[in-house]
Amino acid sequence: MATVPHRLLGISGSLRSQSSNTAVLKTLSDRLSNQAEMSLFALNEIPLYNADLEAQMPASVAALKNAIAQADGLIICSPEYNYGTSGVLKNALDWASRPGFNSTLKNKPVLIMTSSPGVLGGVRAQAQLRETLSATLSRVIRGPQIVIPSVNEKIQDGSFTDEKTIDFMLAAVDDLIREIKAAS
Ligand SMILES: Cc1cc2nc3c(=O)[nH]c(=O)nc-3n(C[C@H](O)[C@H](O)[C@H](O)COP(=O)(O)O)c2cc1C
Repeated sequence: MATVPHRLLGISGSLRSQSSNTAVLKTLSDRLSNQAEMSLFALNEIPLYNADLEAQMPASVAALKNAIAQADGLIICSPEYNYGTSGVLKNALDWASRPGFNSTLKNKPVLIMTSSPGVLGGVRAQAQLRETLSATLSRVIRGPQIVIPSVNEKIQDGSFTDEKTIDFMLAAVDDLIREIKAAS
């Protein structure tokens, strides 16, 4: 009997057209087994968080919240900016976290990854993201942590090429699917 694949939503913390983080997510999406399928949600249209706008939710924010609600699990891939996550991603998570402690992120299984041209692979941004997501009551996959150093040397023609890391990411997706099954 054919099984329905788990629906994953990929969110990149970078808006850059040539973003390494987006390339990592796209490659992972192409390499998923038939257990799961992933679509990407681009954050380009999300405005800066403003509580005054909550009563008349911007269409892009409603679309983000809906995409998160429809997904069985999230995969976030973020760059590191000044030892933290990108403002773009933090802003989107702030929108998605409303209403506080009872948002579409509550109980959502989430896999976090970071990548950077630097040697630490964005590990400090990852720690910050974990902290932020704990405030949203989402179910963050504990580990092993996926940090991708020297990412700029591992992208070719828009694809991520480090097979060892791809295997590592696929094992983490298995952990995410286990968490999805436990959550449902
Ligand atoms: C404002 C700014 C701050 C940055 N700070 C860091 C940093 O703290 N650590 C790091 O590893 N890379 C840092 N970088 C480099 C980013 O990791 C790099 O630009 C990365 O490729 C961005 O991700 P993307 O390719 O997905 O757009 C910084 C870049 C910018 C523009």
